[in-house]
Amino acid sequence: MKAFNNLTDFSNEEIQALIELAVRLDSNPEPEALKGKVLSLLFLSPSLRTLASFQAAMTRLGGGSFVISPEMSIHGIESRPGIVMDGAAAEHIREAVPVIASYGDAIGIRAFAERKNIEADMQENEFSALTDLIDTPYINMESAMNHPCQNLADWKTMDDLNVPSNGGKFVLSWAYHPLALPLAVPASTLHMAAKRGMDVTVLRPEGFELPAALMEKANTIAAATGGSIKETDQRAEAMEDAHIIYAKSWSSTRHYGDKLNDQKLREQHLDWCVDEPWFENARNDCRFMHCLPVRRGVVVADNILDGPRSVVIAEARNRMLAQMAVLHQMLGNQK
Ligand code: CP
Repeated sequence: MKAFNNLTDFSNEEIQALIELAVRLDSNPEPEALKGKVLSLLFLSPSLRTLASFQAAMTRLGGGSFVISPEMSIHGIESRPGIVMDGAAAEHIREAVPVIASYGDAIGIRAFAERKNIEADMQENEFSALTDLIDTPYINMESAMNHPCQNLADWKTMDDLNVPSNGGKFVLSWAYHPLALPLAVPASTLHMAAKRGMDVTVLRPEGFELPAALMEKANTIAAATGGSIKETDQRAEAMEDAHIIYAKSWSSTRHYGDKLNDQKLREQHLDWCVDEPWFENARNDCRFMHCLPVRRGVVVADNILDGPRSVVIAEARNRMLAQMAVLHQMLGNQK
């Protein structure tokens, strides 16, 4: 495997093989599988789970890792092309990224969306500018529109819970958050659930529609897997017979890059905080999923997070197992 960039680059059989490998590595550890291998981890955006789970994954497989982020005691990094570097930044990504990559056998890169121009973010301009600088295998640890490690872990979490693929009902719901967050998780989660063959409903207030190109891609995937895609602002209709509600906040697509108008619009939806009444029409065993971090009492009520519906801790642990499978396939001795 040369790149783990987007879950939809892989066939359902390849995804299932990764999940089977993750299950196997959990029950039958291979502490020498990646002995002597090094994973470089470049975080240009903050993290808890991705940072810790990649390091834990490499250690459990017998390899090592190192982390570089702008928060560390490193030279200031410039990313703008063609800039005269007479300001604070002493180093350009054009040197920094290939150097970091050269110390490892593979590199993980996290760079969130700029959130200024939706077309540029949809085209993954920033992430591509980084991966174009390297020829080592790489893992997308979250870019403007993708979070494949989260998607693989979430797929596994639903398998662990015996949530059906075809016939399983998945509600991807916008939730209130005080900040305009990136589209990476909602976009890639929509595609993951469609690829799993689920009946997916995107539940969101007006002004927070997912971009048409993302919905079109979801429809194409669903047509091939036997799933379906709907979009609504009607909560009761969306939640009917749901197996899963996956909550996430994202930027207003009507006011993308316009913080003031985004804020004015989102503040009209403070009541989009997932709580027990949301589940009235859902299946009794409907589960709550979230990639974390999550704001308690803002995105979701404490009683949901602390109650039996929540599987957020299992999702987070599955990040480590899913990434072990990816690293094993990317760096292990292939037969
Ligand atoms: N879910 C996730 O990617 O968490 P972090 O941002 O903490 O890595």
